[in-house]
Amino acid sequence: MSKLNFSSDKLVRYLFHVLALMPLIILLWDLQFDNLTANPIQNIMLRTGKPALVLLVAVLSITPLRKIFGLNVLIKYRRSIGLYAFLYASIHFMVFVGLDYGFDIDLLRYSVFKKPYVILGLLAYLTLVPLAITSSSKWIRILGKYWKWLHKIIYLTVILAVGHYIWAVKSDIRQPLLFALVVLLMLLLRVPLVTRVLHVLEHRWRSK
Ligand code: HEM
Repeated sequence: MSKLNFSSDKLVRYLFHVLALMPLIILLWDLQFDNLTANPIQNIMLRTGKPALVLLVAVLSITPLRKIFGLNVLIKYRRSIGLYAFLYASIHFMVFVGLDYGFDIDLLRYSVFKKPYVILGLLAYLTLVPLAITSSSKWIRILGKYWKWLHKIIYLTVILAVGHYIWAVKSDIRQPLLFALVVLLMLLLRVPLVTRVLHVLEHRWRSK
């Protein structure tokens, strides 16, 4: 029985990694077969920015999902989800700086002021770097109680990333606004007063 549980746990873990890497695998496949539209750089930007954001929102939703639905198993995946978000954000960043701007710092500086949404993206990425670096158990030990405090930066990262997305999108902003709404909900579900009210409501509903 325990052998069965162990293997199903392993299978879920494999599936999780395959799922998280799927956008990258499909991207590499399309790159290999020259399937990246007429503007490949923009296509890569779009196809790496979205997974990065989805994964960041997923990190933020783990605590509310655990508290509300008791899905404690999700905690095992939090670090990996965060690191995958960092991977996609790093590709997104490197493609912009390297492929789009050829590492030309002057051109980049000029462009950043012409496209202020890039500043928000850059800030989001910069806040993500220390979180990725300190995500290992070794850093949890080194930082002790400050680790939790440092990792609260994720709230800022997600807010900046959603702001960047809303600003980057040129026409239909329904999807970015939906992301903003989900993030707002995830943040609200962390406010102690809101969770207390939810618990009271749940109690009343159960005792009916
Ligand atoms: C945590 C970091 C970041 C996240 C989550 C993120 C996410 C996104 C998302 C979701 C989009 C819109 C994709 C779409 O329209 O479907 C986007 C677009 C864009 N991002 Fe980021 N981004 C991040 C950091 C950065 C950084 C560091 C840069 C550059 C220095 C950058 C530059 C851009 C550009 C130029 C676009 C517009 C692409 C286009 O429409 O041509 N982003 N990003």
